[in-house]
Amino acid sequence: MTMNEQIKNLLGFLAKSPTPFHAVENIAIRLESAGFERLEEAKAWNTVQSGNYYVTRNDSSLIAMRLEQVGGDTGFRIVGAHTDSPCLKVKPQATQCRDGYVMLAVEVYGGALLNPWFDRDLGLAGRINIKTLSGSIQSRLLRINHPVAFIPSLAIHLDRNANEDRSINRQKHLPAVLMRTNEDQHDFADILKNWLVRDDPELEIDHILSFELSLFDCQPPALIGLHGEFIASARLDNLLSCHAATEALIASKNDVNKLIVLNDHEEVGSASMSGAAGPFLESVLSRLCKDNEILTRSLQHSMLVSADNAHAVHPNYADRHEPDHRPLINTGPVIKINHNQNYATNSESEALLRVVCEANDINVQSFVTRSDLGCGSTIGPITATRIGVRTVDIGVPQLGMHSIRELAGVQDQIDLVHVLRGFFDHANWPF
Ligand code: CO
Repeated sequence: MTMNEQIKNLLGFLAKSPTPFHAVENIAIRLESAGFERLEEAKAWNTVQSGNYYVTRNDSSLIAMRLEQVGGDTGFRIVGAHTDSPCLKVKPQATQCRDGYVMLAVEVYGGALLNPWFDRDLGLAGRINIKTLSGSIQSRLLRINHPVAFIPSLAIHLDRNANEDRSINRQKHLPAVLMRTNEDQHDFADILKNWLVRDDPELEIDHILSFELSLFDCQPPALIGLHGEFIASARLDNLLSCHAATEALIASKNDVNKLIVLNDHEEVGSASMSGAAGPFLESVLSRLCKDNEILTRSLQHSMLVSADNAHAVHPNYADRHEPDHRPLINTGPVIKINHNQNYATNSESEALLRVVCEANDINVQSFVTRSDLGCGSTIGPITATRIGVRTVDIGVPQLGMHSIRELAGVQDQIDLVHVLRGFFDHANWPF
């Protein structure tokens, strides 16, 4: 894939993946087009030999692997990333009629920056579970790509101090306008049914059982800047890394065991059946290693590169960064270090990553937070704790993390794919 194709491909993936369910579906399609075979966790894996496979859990997490040897102790080169991003999710009793409007009730998912959600053209997407007329229970993905909702700001005339001290009450200020009405009741399930039948006219729905839906910005991702050197989009944290991991795995050589693990629920602490604190990766590795003794030896020969975006220095808020650690956009991936273990990088894993970057002629930066500021975390330390694998936390530098529209660099995405591929293919591995 050329550089331009790679970026075009990323922008398309970001636009088509408003939720982790859609991200996993789109990555599965990409993997199948590259010859990866789908495995089911609920079936026997005794026919799995060397080759290319993938498996999903909860439709929102995915592990893809290129296997050279099954049942051996040579270890795995692993790249991890997360499929979820902070957003607004629809509450079970979704609609209320108020003051002439049908309003959509939402819950804040993860550490969303809320201000940018106002005055946006919002679409709706996620997973819906239905009962059909024949009695079967089915799960369907929905993506309403045109703006159906809007969270209007309060006019400045009604809040003269808005620019100095407006704060957001999550319960009162975030419900989204869906339509004008003079009724006092509204059936949201009817709308969902109509959308599903429009997508699949054959579908005979008896009723909607449940849903996990979120709002998303309909504005498509774009290349911006005088030279088009920036990528502006929602969910760059961390779909950019999911995309890079997938492309690096597909492009890598088939000579050692390697896999990517893309987990849901990182933004809410990772503790779930499909999150990094859950047993998904361990369960897959133990099935590939056949017994505990081999798994233990294998993990000692393994390494995880956890890829999750880092904070570039913001030119208007430069004092928020440690003065001597100020990552720049389009200057190479960032190694994240926190000796209190909010990041899992240690000097050994950092050294190995630096060797890979040197071998591939890629500049690398390092990030450490100011000593008087807290520090984020990611799936790296959680996975390291869960399975005991040596880990380095890296990521492309970006601005506006957790905004509805974030900013990253074109060159950084190219470099990240290059580094991850270099990690998969590196010949002189010391363990
Ligand atoms: Co992240």
